[in-house]
This record gives sequence, structure tokens and C-alpha cells, in this order.
Amino acid sequence: MEFQVGVIKGDGIGPEIVTEAQKVLDAIGKKYSHKFVYEDILMGGCSIDATGVPLTDHAIEQALSKQAVLMGSIGGNTATSPWYKLEPSLRPEAGLLKLRKALNLFANLRPAYLYEELKEACPLRDDIIGDGFDMMIMRELTGGLYFGERKTEEVDGVMTAVDTLSYNENEIRRIAKRGFDIAMKRRKKVTSVDKANVLDSSRLWRKIVEEVAKDYPEVTYEHMLVDNCAMQLVKDPKQFDVILTENMFGDILSDEASMVTGSIGMLSSASLNDTKFGLYEPSGGSAPDIAGKGIANPIATILSAAMMLRYSFDLDKEADAIENAVKSVLKENYRTIDIMPQEEDKRALVTQVGTKEMGDLIAARV
Ligand code: IPM
Ligand code: MG
Repeated sequence: MEFQVGVIKGDGIGPEIVTEAQKVLDAIGKKYSHKFVYEDILMGGCSIDATGVPLTDHAIEQALSKQAVLMGSIGGNTATSPWYKLEPSLRPEAGLLKLRKALNLFANLRPAYLYEELKEACPLRDDIIGDGFDMMIMRELTGGLYFGERKTEEVDGVMTAVDTLSYNENEIRRIAKRGFDIAMKRRKKVTSVDKANVLDSSRLWRKIVEEVAKDYPEVTYEHMLVDNCAMQLVKDPKQFDVILTENMFGDILSDEASMVTGSIGMLSSASLNDTKFGLYEPSGGSAPDIAGKGIANPIATILSAAMMLRYSFDLDKEADAIENAVKSVLKENYRTIDIMPQEEDKRALVTQVGTKEMGDLIAARV
């Protein structure tokens, strides 16, 4: 079959890691007789440089015309890049937020999984790691503080900034359903995270999640306050299966969850709407400090391409092939620099490779 894929290479390490993911997709295409037709879409700093804005209407139209979009990363060094001298609505990140909203990508899936082969990279103690952990952060992506009304103005002679956190019951219900649906395919546990001891939006969140839970009697669910969740993620990450939460909490907790796996360069993500369409991107950022050096880890982007095959194209067998190829190269002890073991004696046992070699190794094994 033929699939239309938009490709946002973006900034920093984005172009390097996306190129490797396309290489792996093409290997899948060859083996399983599919054709992936790519069209580049500009977003982020590169779009600012070319057009003056981080996302043009043309780029949105391009994305809308595709079955899925594969993305690298956007943005630069916030302290030194000229992009961050522009007003906030013209900076690289504004492009991503605009795209999420324009495509109604309300469901953000961020798996955080501890690879057996990469246990040494996990910063937690062995007794906490146990048999490892495997969770899915389900983050609401088009509501809350990110999209509420905001302003900065002088009130009675004092500069005052306001951001608004608002959710309606429909927005909560649709993400909660997605969270429970995903839990049904996993270990059937949902931890809904909120701050219901303080926030009205969280109290509504809790009420609606409780209603949705009634339709999923097989799923065990619990509520957890976000500060406690931040603590539990390092104290006992094994307890989590699906973490269901609003936009801002999900932003913070997903970085924390990826860090406890020790390998943010390994983690993929998907942003989905009500259709089969999805935007797929690695969890990590644009890493401008290592851009162009050929050392970035392409695995998260390659695994994001696998998620694309699974969620947007229903190609489960092909997605499995990519995931198994990744596991193989890890078993064969190939590592990019970010997942090299810390101890000298263990380093001697593995082979360090660059971005392109890692892509080649994985493509050869699909
Ligand atoms: C993420 C990022 C974005 C977010 C930024 C780049 C706007 O941190 O995808 O987690 O906050 O959502
Ligand atoms: Mg983030």
C-alpha cells in the first residue's frame, strides 16, 4: 500500500534523526511492499528563517492533507538563538502549539519504558527498578494553561501576568476515554493525576474521569495528586501503567518519567485526534549543542515511526519488525553516546556508533 507522510525535520538534531527514521521506513517498505511517500513541511526555527513565522498556513494545509506526520524536533538554544528574541507567538514552539491545535491533536501518548539492555542507564537504585517498569503517559494536549487566555498588563501600577487553566467536560471525557481504551490493551490500570485539593479544573477532571471509569469495569483506576505523583515516579515507578493527566502536568511528568528510564533518546510519542491521523515525534528536544555532529540517538524517532505504522496505518506486523530490530541492535551491544554505560569495564563490552550507523544497523534488521 501507499502512505502519504508529512515530514517535519525541524531544527537542531531533527534533520539527522528523521533521515534515519525514513531509512528504516523505506526498509520496511521494501520488505513488506509498501510505499511511503514523503513531503517535507517547514516548522519551527527553520520556518522562521525561511518565512518569518514558525508555521505557515500552507504548512498546516500540507499536514492536513497527509495520513500522518513524522517530526524531528524544533527550537534552539533559548539563551543564544535569535529566534528567542522574537515575541513569544513568533518563536519556534508557537509553531508546534499551533499545529497541535489546528489538527485537534488532543491525545498525547508518551511511553516510558525501561529497556532490559539499558538498565545501567537508569538513575534509580536496583531495588527500586526491580523487574523494570513500563508506563504510558496519556497527556491532554490541546487544553489547559497552554491554550487558555493570557495577558501581561499593568494593574494599579504593578506589572501582572495572567494565564488561564480551563477545561470543559467534553475535553476531559474524550481524553479519559482514550486513556481507558489504552489501559484495556495494557495492564488495565489508570492513574488519573490532578490537583483536586486546590484547583476547580482538577475537581471537574476527577468527576468526569470517575464517570468514564464506570464504562470500564475491568480497569482499576485511582486518583493521585500531581505532587505525590512526581514523588511516586522516582520512589516506585513500577506501580504505574497508564498515567492520565492534563496538559501542563503531563508536560512535566513525562520529562520526569523519561528521565527515570535513563534514556530520553529512546522514547517515542504520538499525538492523535479523533481520526487515524497522528503526529509522531521523539520525546526528546532538538539538542542544539550536538546538532550536526552525527552523534544524536535516532532510536526515539525510529520508534515514533513504528508508532505511526501501528496507530495511523494499522501495520502492526511492520511496527513489531521495527521494535524488534531496535531490540536486536541493543542486544548486539551497539550504543549511541547517550546510552553508553557509565562504568569503564562495561563500556569495553559495547560498540559506540553514530546516528547514521545506528540507522543503518536497524534498517538492516527489519
Ligand atoms: C513537549 C514540549 C512542548 C510542550 C514545548 C516545546 C512547547 O516541551 O512536547 O513536551 O511544552 O508541550
Ligand atoms: Mg515538554
